[in-house]
Amino acid sequence: MSSLMGNVPTGRPRGRPKGSKNRVAKQPKTSTTITRTARPVGRPRKFPKLLEDISTPPVSLPKRGRGRPRKIPVAQAAPAAGTPVTPANPPESTTTTPLDSPSLQFVNSQPAGDANRPTQLQGLAAGASLQSSATFGGSVRPLAPSQDAYANVSHQTTSNVQHPHDLDLGLSNTHVLVTGGAGLIGSYVVSLFLTAGALVSSLDIAYPLETTTTPNFDTEGHERRLQRVHADVSDVAQFRQAWAFATRSFGVVHCCVALASLDLSVLPQTDSLCDMDPATWQRVLNVNVGGTFTTSQLWLRGIREAAASPQQAAALKNTSLIIIGSEAGHFGVRTQAAYAAAKSAVQYGLMQSLMADAPRIWAKARVNSVAPGPVDTPRYREECRVAEAQGMHWVESQATVALRQPVPMEAVAKSVVFLASEAWSGHVHGQILNVDSGKQGKLMWAREECD
Ligand SMILES: NC(=O)c1ccc[n+]([C@@H]2O[C@H](COP(=O)([O-])OP(=O)(O)OC[C@H]3O[C@@H](n4cnc5c(N)ncnc54)[C@H](O)[C@@H]3O)[C@@H](O)[C@H]2O)c1
Repeated sequence: MSSLMGNVPTGRPRGRPKGSKNRVAKQPKTSTTITRTARPVGRPRKFPKLLEDISTPPVSLPKRGRGRPRKIPVAQAAPAAGTPVTPANPPESTTTTPLDSPSLQFVNSQPAGDANRPTQLQGLAAGASLQSSATFGGSVRPLAPSQDAYANVSHQTTSNVQHPHDLDLGLSNTHVLVTGGAGLIGSYVVSLFLTAGALVSSLDIAYPLETTTTPNFDTEGHERRLQRVHADVSDVAQFRQAWAFATRSFGVVHCCVALASLDLSVLPQTDSLCDMDPATWQRVLNVNVGGTFTTSQLWLRGIREAAASPQQAAALKNTSLIIIGSEAGHFGVRTQAAYAAAKSAVQYGLMQSLMADAPRIWAKARVNSVAPGPVDTPRYREECRVAEAQGMHWVESQATVALRQPVPMEAVAKSVVFLASEAWSGHVHGQILNVDSGKQGKLMWAREECD
């Protein structure tokens, strides 16, 4: 949870790709009239510039019997008369020009601009109709294939390739270790992993000390698939001992969720950094950064050891580290800079470094972050109740939040489980997954401060 009235965003690297604004700005101001061409023969007088802009080379088709491959000229864009040509309103033409071969014809029967559709050559390879190109504001884009052509492609895919649509998370019997598993979000994460059939070690400073020496299995409905172990992530020696204890029961840790933290809501806050106690700064960094470093190291070392043993290596699956960051790591927190600095450190610097490192240890080892926005925990609700007069709920979860609501705990936990599952996210690596209801920053000033 974040502090009331933190910082507003300063150039968060999200949203519209660089330069996309310019492309829109370059559109011709005058509307382009459209002529329907029955056949792309010659050079039309109306659009000399247009043709020069079309840079798509002629497409060589496969040989048709004897002789040289036939060269097909590029068709001209044919927007409807009087229609302004914009990316939002691409031209639509239904011109079809049959060529010699029955399987080859110019078809331009749907709006251009869907870059995700198969390209011309892919379409051709799949027996689809040949497509042309269109010019928008001086830039050339390939036209999407006709819907018929696209249908051909997908039919071929579904008939030739087996798609069993197995939606199983594949987490059954994966050893998942969650630090901070006794906390509000942590216990939700633990519960979801158990539901997915994983073997779960929940490590937390909140558990009794004796759980590091005496097995503490939860036998209620989990068939001894959950163990709770006392651990202090900021005490390296003790933490190693707790980790070793956890692996004795369930084997090497495949998947690790680094969640243990001093959350913002349990930390002292000051109106300015001027008044921050340096001891607080140090404590937060020790637990939130130092603890996450040790967690990551123990996970990766375990994977390295397992990879060295053919028997253990064969059983490695869902090798994933998920670091729990925060929106604070993006936007900062004016009243508790240590928390924000620690979250930035782990969700950016540490995670990005491990992204390069982990696959060298084990090819399928993945590392990602989850950065929640304000989470709808009982603690958050209580804070909002206490600070109702200052409009805390509005400031934190509405004013700059697109979905206008805090994030349910379950949403955070499900994102973690998704990133843990090789079957679901096996190629998601080195990412920060913002689970923040679309938060875009913080208010800098309250209304009354500006009067
Ligand atoms: N709640 C939110 O709105 C929110 C928003 C963004 C990010 N987060 C992050 O999500 C995570 C969970 O938050 P939460 O709201 O469940 O907080 P929480 O305080 O309920 O959970 C944190 C857990 O970490 C444990 N912990 C603290 N220090 C430890 C240590 N030295 N060793 C081992 N365990 C330790 C605590 O005992 C607690 O169980 C935290 O990393 C938090 O910063 C929370």
